Amino acid sequence: MTAPLIDPFQRAISYLRVSVTDRCDFRCVYCMSENMTFLPKKELLTLEELDRMCSTFVRLGVEKLRITGGEPLVRRNIMMFFNAMTRHLEAGNLKELTLTTNGSQLERFADDLYAAGVRRVNVSLDTIDEQKFADITRWGRLPQVLKGIDAAQRAGMRIKINTVALKDFNEDELFTLVEWCKSRDMDLTFIEVMPMGDIGNEDRLGQYWKLSDLRMRLAEQYTLKELSERTGGPARYVELEETGQKIGFITPLTHNFCESCNRVRLTCTGELYMCLGQEDMADLRAPMRNNPGNDVPLEDAIRAAIERKPKGHDFDYSRQTVDGRVSRHMSHTGG
Ligand code: GTP
Ligand code: 5AD
Ligand code: SF4
Repeated sequence: MTAPLIDPFQRAISYLRVSVTDRCDFRCVYCMSENMTFLPKKELLTLEELDRMCSTFVRLGVEKLRITGGEPLVRRNIMMFFNAMTRHLEAGNLKELTLTTNGSQLERFADDLYAAGVRRVNVSLDTIDEQKFADITRWGRLPQVLKGIDAAQRAGMRIKINTVALKDFNEDELFTLVEWCKSRDMDLTFIEVMPMGDIGNEDRLGQYWKLSDLRMRLAEQYTLKELSERTGGPARYVELEETGQKIGFITPLTHNFCESCNRVRLTCTGELYMCLGQEDMADLRAPMRNNPGNDVPLEDAIRAAIERKPKGHDFDYSRQTVDGRVSRHMSHTGG
C-alpha cells in the first residue's frame, strides 16, 4: 500500500479537480473576456494521458474526482474519459466521480454520465431570468440549461446549483433562487466572487456581494439553523427551518476555510496547482511523457508538489482594494 498524500500542514489530499479543457461555450463576464485566446489543442493532455494522471492520483489515495473546465462537456469524446474512470469506482478506490458544468450540454450527456457512475452534478447558474442570463454569460441561453437540468434529474442525478453572489445583479433574486431550488429539490450554494483573471474592464469590488450580508437578508424571511456538517469542501451549510432545505456558503473573502483544504487541481495541460489562490504549480506532463510505462517519476513529482502546498490563498478586499489577485483565469483551473 502506498503512503497517502499529506501536505506540510497535515492535510490529507483526497480530492482532485481536473480541468479537461480551457474552452467554454459561455463567456461569463466575471470569468472570461469576450475574446479569449485558448490553448492550442496539441498542448492538451490526451484522454489517455488524463486517464494515466487520474489513475496515478487514485493510486496515491485520491477518493474524489471532480471534472471541470472551462466547460468539461465541450471537450471532444469526453465520455471516453468518464467511462474510463468507472473502473476506479467499481474497484472501490474512487468514492465519487462528479463534475461542475454550466449545464449547456447536459441534455445530451445526462444518461451517459449516470451510466458512467456520476450521481451528483454541480451546475453553475447565477440567475433564472432569461435576459439576465444572456447578459452575464454573454453566449449562454437559459432554456438550454434548464433542459439540461431536467435531463440530469430524470437520469437520477442530484443537482447542486452554484451561484456567484453579484452585487446589483442577482441580489434581487435571492428569494426567487431559494424557492426555485426548493421546488425542484436541488441544493444551492452561494459563492463570493474571487479576484481571478484579467477580465478587462473589471471592477471586482463593484461586483462583490458579501455573503455575510446575503445571510442576513436570508434571515429576514427564514430561520437559519447552522449545520455542523462538512463535506470536506469549502462550503458551510445552514438549514432553512421553514422549508428544510440546505443552503451552502463559500466565503473565500469573509471567512477563510483553507485550514481544512483537501484538494489540488490539475489543468488540461498537466500542471498541478496546489491552491486555487496561488500562482505556484508543478508540471506533471513532462515526468509522465518522458517515462512511458513507468509511473514512478510521476508519483515522485506529485509527492514533491504536495510538499509545497501553501497554507491558503491571500484574496482580500478589506482595504477597499483587490489584494491577493491571481492572474490566471478561473477556467484554467476549473474553480
Ligand atoms: P462539493 O462539496 O462536492 O459539492 O463540491 P465543491 O464545493 O468542492 O465543488 P464546486 O465545484 O461546487 O465548487 C464551487 C466553487 O467553490 C468553485 O468553483 C470555486 O469557485 C469555489 N471553491 C472550491 N474549492 C475551493 C478552494 O479550495 N478554494 C477557494 N478559494 N474556492 C474554492
Ligand atoms: N469568483 C468566484 N467564482 C467564480 N466562478 C468563475 N469565476 C469566478 C470568480 N471570479 C465560478 C463559476 C462556477 C465555478 C466553476 O466557478 O460560476 O460556479
Ligand atoms: Fe464558462 Fe464557467 Fe467561465 Fe462561465 S464561469 S465562462 S460557464 S467556465
